Amino acid sequence: MTKRVAVLMGGKSSEREVSLNSGKSIVAALKSLGYEVFEIDPSHNLLELLSKSKPDVIYNALHGTYGEDGAIPGLLEVLGIPYTHSGIEASAVGMNKWLTRIMLENCGIKFPEGKKVKVADLLSGIEPMKRPYVIKPISQGSTVGVYIIKDGDPSFADQQSTTPWKYGEEALVEEYIPGQEISTAVISGKAIGSLELKPLSGFYDYESKYTDGKTEHIYPANLPEDIYKESLRFAEIAHNILGCRCVSRSDMRYNPEKCMLYFLEINTHPGFTNLSIVPELAEKNGIPFEKLVSIILADAKLELNAA
Ligand SMILES: Nc1ncnc2c1ncn2[C@@H]1O[C@H](COP(=O)(O)OP(=O)(O)O)[C@@H](O)[C@H]1O
Ligand SMILES: [Mg+2]
Repeated sequence: MTKRVAVLMGGKSSEREVSLNSGKSIVAALKSLGYEVFEIDPSHNLLELLSKSKPDVIYNALHGTYGEDGAIPGLLEVLGIPYTHSGIEASAVGMNKWLTRIMLENCGIKFPEGKKVKVADLLSGIEPMKRPYVIKPISQGSTVGVYIIKDGDPSFADQQSTTPWKYGEEALVEEYIPGQEISTAVISGKAIGSLELKPLSGFYDYESKYTDGKTEHIYPANLPEDIYKESLRFAEIAHNILGCRCVSRSDMRYNPEKCMLYFLEINTHPGFTNLSIVPELAEKNGIPFEKLVSIILADAKLELNAA
């Protein structure tokens, strides 16, 4: 009998649109692989939609809050429906940039100098470290809510009238790492390659990530050989230490003046739009999009054993 696959796409996070785009490509691939496919937008009536469609398996194409932070895996574990991508723990830690840092710094992975700060302190005008620095949400994605504060820029407090902070009472502050933007894909526990992203605007923000022609993709990343290998090693350690399942993408920065590679974050639900990095790296390594989707689906399961 044909497997019934429900693709969760959309949702309530700030990355809703990205997820709808990822979902669209995934649905098309699953259909051409011959599955019976249902699109489910879990922003309303998720339980009702699940009980109507009675899927054999869930393909989780959500990004961000609820979709990528372990909330959906938690629900699906309780309901007993197998699902793709990482389970509760890896998703929850991966979504939280502070917890990720604490876990991975202990495993020899280098991060930018950084600390967790109270947003109220930033709003009162306190400079959290020497400029240039970055202020970012602890649990968001797609560069949403990232402020880069260089010498001469208005302070975080002064930027509130144009770009207000909406991401909770605490923020992550990191030294700004000048240099190159690097992203590495891991499939089935193995790092397959690293891309360099060169945004024309100079900042790899939401627009540069999702608008065709706004970012040059360089493969393999233009890095010294030992640093390229280090990017693969960092991504593989991050994936395996967090206990990620099947697929992940790790984002890093390389400062060529200091010859130092810095880890920024891991994504347990990397984008699957037509500009996305993991499908591109997979393709360049002989895994076409449909094959990648089928590898991810084949890995769907429940992790908890209530017995
Ligand atoms: N410490 C940093 N130094 C320089 N650029 C940074 C730093 N942290 C974040 N950025 C920039 O912001 C982008 C988004 O940050 P990231 O930590 O990957 O969060 P997310 O992609 O989840 O929004 C990065 O790709 C990078 O361009
Ligand atoms: Mg990122």
